[in-house]
Amino acid sequence: MQATTPQPAQTRLRLHRLAGEGGATTAFAEDVRRGLTSHPKRLFPKYFYDELGSLLFEAICKLPEYYLTRAEDEILSRHADEIAKLACEGLDEFLFHDEASRDAPKSEPVTLVEFGSGSSAKTRRVVEALLRRQQSLLYVPIDISHTALEAGAHALLDEYPRLRVEAYAGDYDAALARLGEGREERGRTLALFLGSNVGNFEAAEAGAFLRRVRGVLSAGDALLVGADLKKDAAILEAAYDDPLGVTAAFNLNLLARINRELGADFDPRNFRHVARYDESAGRVEMYVESKRAQTVRVRALGLEVGFAAGERVHTENSHKYDAAQLSDLARGAGFVAARAWRDEANLFSSNLLVAAAESEPTRS
Ligand code: AVJ
Repeated sequence: MQATTPQPAQTRLRLHRLAGEGGATTAFAEDVRRGLTSHPKRLFPKYFYDELGSLLFEAICKLPEYYLTRAEDEILSRHADEIAKLACEGLDEFLFHDEASRDAPKSEPVTLVEFGSGSSAKTRRVVEALLRRQQSLLYVPIDISHTALEAGAHALLDEYPRLRVEAYAGDYDAALARLGEGREERGRTLALFLGSNVGNFEAAEAGAFLRRVRGVLSAGDALLVGADLKKDAAILEAAYDDPLGVTAAFNLNLLARINRELGADFDPRNFRHVARYDESAGRVEMYVESKRAQTVRVRALGLEVGFAAGERVHTENSHKYDAAQLSDLARGAGFVAARAWRDEANLFSSNLLVAAAESEPTRS
């Protein structure tokens, strides 16, 4: 397809480290202080992903019990071409019910943006589908873990000579501020929010986040949201409490990270991993639970923290969705739910949302 010689991989990568990126120790320290002096105690899940935590998460994705990654990959492998086609043609057909106000579908190249890309493993399906339709592709991954981001970007650039990567290491807030600036240059955009990352938000926060994403898109742009579905508690609890203890290690690594970066003296063996599905809230909750009464020192904070036997520190919520909640979420955030796909076993859903027109949802 391309006549000119491809540029070497390193010249096709720009990596920006933003505020809120993993290495920003002060925000981490402040959040740990707040979290460990709150009642009940809590820590934020975005801090799981230091270098070791990102590797442990990649191991989780290979566990037989953690079906999410495979289910989503199954959907993307089947439907990536359709997703690419819909995104490239703009999605007027879903926005305007009267045909007169629609523009005739015209395929345009898109920029691919991804929130929480991690190592971008599943993104390949979409990258390949887009490169089947357009000469070159700009991919803008955003992730809290600069190590996962960098490794993923290099792997993709080596494989796809027609790809350029503009990567942002940082949290979503910092990245959204940046994305607001470059809106014109990106042109038509397909944004990805995969892997049930949306599940870490409370319903109201998810709506607020998607609304901010809407704010950096133009009407007709697409957002693909991967959401895990409500299901039997036994399946969910196995997915978040695997027999090899990989998820336990991922969870307890948060304490080990506080030791490494803030000079604390947590003994992770004195805590256990707890994951349970709260059916009425529709979410898996994770905690680290103190096995005994103990005191932990966090040197960098000049803090001593007491734990009662059985006391829990909340570390993560993973919300599970149904179809009605997903379309409510989309509508409330200024999107129209255009298409949804599920894997064969009905475990996971991929939802293609269209950014609605700014003021009025339908122009008529
Ligand atoms: C990366 C947030 C989607 O909630 O399923 C995996 C993280 N936690 N096992 C999820 C996670 C425990 C994961 N997300």
